[in-house]
Amino acid sequence: MGAMYDSPRMDQSEGIAGGDPSASAVPARRSRLARAPERALRSLFLALARRRSLGRFATRLPLTRAMVARFVAGQTLDDALATIQRLHDAGLSTTVDVLGESVASADAAVAAAERYVRTLDALAAAGLDRNVSLKLSQMGLAVDGQVCRANVERILERAATLGAFVRVDMEDHATTDATLALVRSLRPRHPELGVVIQAALRRSSNDIDSLVAESTRVRLCKGAYNEPASVAFIDRADVDRQFVVLMERLLRRGTYPAIATHDERLIRRAVNLARREGIGPDRFEFQMLYGVRRDLQERLVADGWTVRVYVPYGAEWYPYFMRRLAERPANVAFVLRSLLQERRAPLPKSAP
Ligand code: FDA
Repeated sequence: MGAMYDSPRMDQSEGIAGGDPSASAVPARRSRLARAPERALRSLFLALARRRSLGRFATRLPLTRAMVARFVAGQTLDDALATIQRLHDAGLSTTVDVLGESVASADAAVAAAERYVRTLDALAAAGLDRNVSLKLSQMGLAVDGQVCRANVERILERAATLGAFVRVDMEDHATTDATLALVRSLRPRHPELGVVIQAALRRSSNDIDSLVAESTRVRLCKGAYNEPASVAFIDRADVDRQFVVLMERLLRRGTYPAIATHDERLIRRAVNLARREGIGPDRFEFQMLYGVRRDLQERLVADGWTVRVYVPYGAEWYPYFMRRLAERPANVAFVLRSLLQERRAPLPKSAP
């Protein structure tokens, strides 16, 4: 386990200075001013992610398929199973997200739960990782709390019979209390249920303390939503600092935490801490998104760490895809390039 996790492409100013500095010593990234255009683009893409009408339009465009394929494992369960098999062959673990969120009716929520049950059955039948991630807005949280709860319970009951693990993703801050409350109320009967905490939220330190005390499995991520400064850290350096503090707490005292980031500085800190304090690969895992930093995923696996890839599939990819664009402005250039290339050479019919 000897590799360094800083990429040759990484700007010196982003690297962690030698040794193992305290949390407050995570170096500042570029200045606030230099990041203003990046922040504006992020806000734009996150706002577009919420535009359902745009989503309906975009998902019909054949042009977008190849671009989406970078981040989404396909439209059908069979597509996803083939991808998951390839990832397993490369030594990676997986969790499956059946795409969809913010459903508008109880029927749509019940149908989404049914897709999860079918996915769990298919994973078990194929001998693949029985691990899924779901969103409560997809289970009907905003439509009817009872329907939402019943949907999640249905999935958990099937998961229990298959020995599967279910993680509830965290959506915007308006849903944090409801998400934690539902997870807390279901865990006594369903211990194989975990949740996500976002380092960006100011409340997260308290939430981590409670979840650690309750032995709930936590995935720690930075946070993918546009949040107001009243509840969230806006500056990326502040989010990173809180990530380090929470990550170290989880690694030392958490129950099999998941460190979900592609940020090499943070991954290196986790690796350094784990090595120094004898926290082995059986005590935690790294998690990354499908299609993001495959090189890093493979390097960590080669070094003996567990890496779980978050594999989304399904037709409702629009908001997920827009959040991926928001995370990295360079992806916009990638998308535009793909568009131009596709104009010149039309997509083969078999493209996902
Ligand atoms: P950061 O954004 O600083 O990126 C670090 C580096 O990673 C970049 O420099 C780039 O190289 C690479 N990178 C990151 N994102 C990329 C992208 N989209 N395309 C290409 N390269 C990219 N959020 C949430 O609010 N609720 C949730 O439940 C989850 N669940 C979740 C599960 C898993 C497994 C992961 C990995 C992430 C999430 N997230 C999430 C998303 C998370 O909050 C965050 O938005 C992204 O992980 C991006 O942040 P990073 O930590 O990678 O750092």
